[in-house]
Amino acid sequence: MCGIVAYVGNKQCQNLLLEGLKRLEYRGYDSAGIATIQDGHIRVVKTVGRVANLEDKLEEVGGVRGTIGMCHTRWATHGGVTDPNAHPHTDDKSGICLIHNGIIENYASLKTYLEEKGHKFQSQTDTEVLAMLIGELYSPSEGVDLEAAVQAALREVTGAYGIVVMCDKEPDTLVAARKGSPLMVGVGNGEYLVASDGSAVVSHTSQAFALEDYQVVKLTPKGFRTSTIHNVPVTPKIQQLEIELESIELGAYSHFMQKEIFEQPKCLSNTFRGRIDTRDGKVVLGGLASFAKELTRAKRVILLGQGTALHAAMIGEYLMEDLAKVCAVAEYASEFRYRNPIIEENTVAIAVSQSGETADTLAALQEAKDRGALALGVINVVGSTMARETDAGVYLRVGPEIGVASTKAFVGQVAVLTLVSIFLGRRRFMSADQCAEVLKALETVPDKIQRILEHDAKIKSVTERYIDRENWLFLGRGYNYPTALEGALKLKEISYIHAEGMPAAEMKHGPIALINEGMPAVFIANRGRQYEKVISNIQEVKARGGRIIAVATEGDEQIKRHADDVFYVPDIPEALSPMLTVIPLQLMAYHAAVLRGHDVDKPRNLAKSVTVE
Ligand code: G6P
Repeated sequence: MCGIVAYVGNKQCQNLLLEGLKRLEYRGYDSAGIATIQDGHIRVVKTVGRVANLEDKLEEVGGVRGTIGMCHTRWATHGGVTDPNAHPHTDDKSGICLIHNGIIENYASLKTYLEEKGHKFQSQTDTEVLAMLIGELYSPSEGVDLEAAVQAALREVTGAYGIVVMCDKEPDTLVAARKGSPLMVGVGNGEYLVASDGSAVVSHTSQAFALEDYQVVKLTPKGFRTSTIHNVPVTPKIQQLEIELESIELGAYSHFMQKEIFEQPKCLSNTFRGRIDTRDGKVVLGGLASFAKELTRAKRVILLGQGTALHAAMIGEYLMEDLAKVCAVAEYASEFRYRNPIIEENTVAIAVSQSGETADTLAALQEAKDRGALALGVINVVGSTMARETDAGVYLRVGPEIGVASTKAFVGQVAVLTLVSIFLGRRRFMSADQCAEVLKALETVPDKIQRILEHDAKIKSVTERYIDRENWLFLGRGYNYPTALEGALKLKEISYIHAEGMPAAEMKHGPIALINEGMPAVFIANRGRQYEKVISNIQEVKARGGRIIAVATEGDEQIKRHADDVFYVPDIPEALSPMLTVIPLQLMAYHAAVLRGHDVDKPRNLAKSVTVE
């Protein structure tokens, strides 16, 4: 959802900015742009397309020079994907230059006001309106410097923003501000970076602080000052960035998605480290310890998420009911926030999110919290907005996820929701022995995922056979109904193949009409309570000419009589099976996208983190 990097210090910053921008490209890649203050003037170069296109354009024009600058990669919201709509945007009066992530909701009325004052707009974006407004308010002779002009403009704005602004009349100053869209400041020696996340900062400094909502920071090579948009000074908390460079680099892999699929065993071992105590039959979750009593009293758990995180939340719903025996429901955060939800006493709301920044999940969590729920987070990005807004939570510990299609975060979310369900279950109904038994099985998950990954070549060759089919079905029951949804989503988002996921039993109520000769239907048919029923559903599809790809339990020979192709996963209790059954589906989607020649890590129209509604 737009990536921002900016620099002020004493180094020439073009390459440093581009290097950071590449790390943020997963946030959006409709267009890219850079601006510096060169010889006292703002110099902007921007273009539709990727950072690579921007590099080409920079080469054509001989690059930009300057020790202060900003760059941006865009995921379009207001205005099409065109050069004029690309960031940075400038004003027409005061030498202002600005990059923005978010949406200015009242941009139309502000634009009318500015047009009446004679300003001429070059783009259709809400961002240019903000640049003009700051330029209009900028008046150093009246004591309104860049910092004050930004503060004043933001007091007029509704919506979400993470912005960085500079002005050619104050060539040593960057001003950044945030509401809703994440921004962090890397603190170096006589230099500062501002970025949407730590990955763009970490190769320069490991000291950083996050800006909070309605905060503004003024940065010069000599120091910084943080305040609110009402100019009340605030003191930020500088922290150590916990990102290892290796975790954000591709290494020997072809794509981040591939790397992230293959590192799942290692990631899950991290997720589990120190949290599973099989000897005493308990789960150790430091983050939840001080809320253990409230959790034990929980009457209802509401799990909130979007996209892949919602699918993990749906599995969480089954886990909570099964293992913790607490009434649970998973909901699209985007729907929940605009209903009039009833939150009774002893309700726990759990936000499930990789980024911890998804606007709808954040707002839904806030709504539940305002209505009295205990707010928990199952989040990957440490220190993200959601992590800070929740009362308590459990981090996934799967490391940075760069591929836009979420894989390791999904498995991490399911793993953490399993831990939380057992944590609750143990305090409610589970004996230490029952608990130890599930935990022993849980500990085997990383090795079992590793065994599935060893079948990558077979999964690729099966995918190849169906690569020309444009319509796929993904079907599962119980715990693996959400897995079916996830399998379909993965295929859609990176291969652009139409796929539908649904409960296998639902197929008879309409979608069966779609089945024609050769249509691939992926069944999650691992051994479990509903195995026989799934076999019946397979036969229904087969009888109508569909081709069956089954994900089945190792040792199940019977399935070969029904399925055209089988991917085996090791045996595991049903409650833990989605962490295994999803792996072949991730690999199928990955191979389908590669075989179709798509950009796996940057699928069209998508952004990794959706920080607008
Ligand atoms: C976007 C991403 C998905 C992700 C969803 C929720 O749509 O493309 O991969 O599942 O947002 O993101 P979150 O960061 O909240 O997990």
